[in-house]
Amino acid sequence: MGVRGNAYAPISNYRVGAAIRMKDGGIVVGCNVEHIILGMTSCAEVVAVQSAVAGGNRDFGDCAVITSSSPPATPCGNCRQLLNDWGVERVICGNVQGEVRVFLLSELLPHSFELREPLPPDSE
Ligand code: THU
Repeated sequence: MGVRGNAYAPISNYRVGAAIRMKDGGIVVGCNVEHIILGMTSCAEVVAVQSAVAGGNRDFGDCAVITSSSPPATPCGNCRQLLNDWGVERVICGNVQGEVRVFLLSELLPHSFELREPLPPDSE
């Protein structure tokens, strides 16, 4: 079974698996991990990104997301911004039935927030 099978989703019963292909060819995976304090739940994409960074790998390629939704679900808004922050260009959305949709992240998150310059100092 893939990483989606490891999802901990006792609250929503909605399992999500994510896999990021790093530029060095390695694959880093994540699944959603729910928390009784709902705001502390981690999306699968977040777990995968944090795992990659914790493993010392910051060169992100494509990201795949697997759910049971039909058509295949796309990443939530927070995760779109997160994947954008780490330079992911393509998102492959699949489901357990075998349907696949491929998107550019720029299609999913047009006019994204980019932090390319240091913030100005606080005025206080
Ligand atoms: N979820 C993800 O893992 N990724 C997304 O992009 C959307 C939502 C999870 C969070 C929660 O555990 C469940 O799906 C239902 O929202």
